[in-house]
Amino acid sequence: MSKYDDLFAETTPEHSVFTDKGALDPLAAPTEIVARDTQERALARILNGVHEGYLPTTVSVYGPPGTGKTLTTRRLCAEFAARQESVAVEYVNLKECRTLFSAANEICFELTGEKKGAYEGLDGVFTAIWTALESYPEWTILLLDEVDHVAHDSNYDPSEFFYRLFRGEGKLKRDIQLSAWLISNELLEVDLRLDSRVQSAMSGEEVFFPPYGREELEAILDARLEQAFRDDALSEAVVDYGVTQAARRWGDARKALRLFRYASETANERGYETVTTACLEENLESAEKDALIEKLLELPFNHYHVLLGITGWNEGGTNEIKQPVTTTEISGSVNRAEYDSAFHLGERAIRDIVTDLETMGLVETWLDSRGRDGRIKRIKTTFDPQWVRDSRASYAAQSDDIDELLTE
Ligand SMILES: Nc1ncnc2c1ncn2[C@@H]1O[C@H](COP(=O)(O)OP(=O)(O)O)[C@@H](O)[C@H]1O
Ligand SMILES: [Mg+2]
Repeated sequence: MSKYDDLFAETTPEHSVFTDKGALDPLAAPTEIVARDTQERALARILNGVHEGYLPTTVSVYGPPGTGKTLTTRRLCAEFAARQESVAVEYVNLKECRTLFSAANEICFELTGEKKGAYEGLDGVFTAIWTALESYPEWTILLLDEVDHVAHDSNYDPSEFFYRLFRGEGKLKRDIQLSAWLISNELLEVDLRLDSRVQSAMSGEEVFFPPYGREELEAILDARLEQAFRDDALSEAVVDYGVTQAARRWGDARKALRLFRYASETANERGYETVTTACLEENLESAEKDALIEKLLELPFNHYHVLLGITGWNEGGTNEIKQPVTTTEISGSVNRAEYDSAFHLGERAIRDIVTDLETMGLVETWLDSRGRDGRIKRIKTTFDPQWVRDSRASYAAQSDDIDELLTE
């Protein structure tokens, strides 16, 4: 008997609540799409335009994360193309593309299997795209997912990029019927401030994916939960609680699946026979914390610096963070002698930033008249102040010029 027999025996989950945990993987495609009838119908109607010799130049598919945009759009297009020889569908995810050149190159790669070298420029890449499309079926649908991640880069303006894609000379000259479907969280023309020339090239077809409500999330989760769990591991009341919370907080199917997976892992770790409401609650809080820290990491440095100041004092002699604080206290923390003077902020600047942070919903403030000097402003975070401290290492890791300040 090898030592691995023991090792595997020891690490076998004994009373796992799962029978098929993979069913909770948000990346695993579900067999059926449920609760998106309106959107499926809208997409099908647009696709059917092919029978009348028309597909719009662009279709905007938009809505918050986890609302089924990618899943539904890809599935509908694939099902349609499988029934229509004259239609081809290509899918490209632009999330990781840092420049417009790399975005175009990603499209080129999907169509030709090859990328172009930087020396060929955007012109070279577009030429390759149009050449490839010449030998495609009559209609090509190009699904551009997470297209809102495409940013302005120093060489190219997004308007120019999209204008070429929708109306480019190479496309018109070769008489290519390309329909670009733009999948994003926000409407692209608003988000990327595309100019009016591009906007008039777009066809104005839009399909909106709203956040899921309680019943829709339940319909999505039901089949998956049944498959994932042992029969008696998850009571109806617990499912109900989790689905209600997920709908109220996020309306996001991906997050809801993750919530149940994490809660069940908690149950397994503790050796529980069933997933309890407490397991869900614990993971709801950590999901909230992750989302909040993500927001903090996106703050400009001065805003983050002031938040550190707001959470910079401890209650006398304890590890408890002092809340609320005053502007003077924030200033004392932000302008510590050991910080480089380049990072110092005046009280007025601090007050302006506190107002910004309040608008973002990260802090709340009120006037307290009990102060010795009359009315005094009190400031506290709207979430557990410890989270600011917990995010420091990650903030420092992504912003090199402030290492010095943050590792004091
Ligand atoms: N209507 C639905 N029916 C079944 N599963 C869904 C549905 N909507 C979302 N999901 C699940 O959630 C995951 C995330 O959906 P996705 O389409 O990627 O969201 P989005 O692109 O809007 O962020 C999917 O992979 C799928 O597992
Ligand atoms: Mg998506």
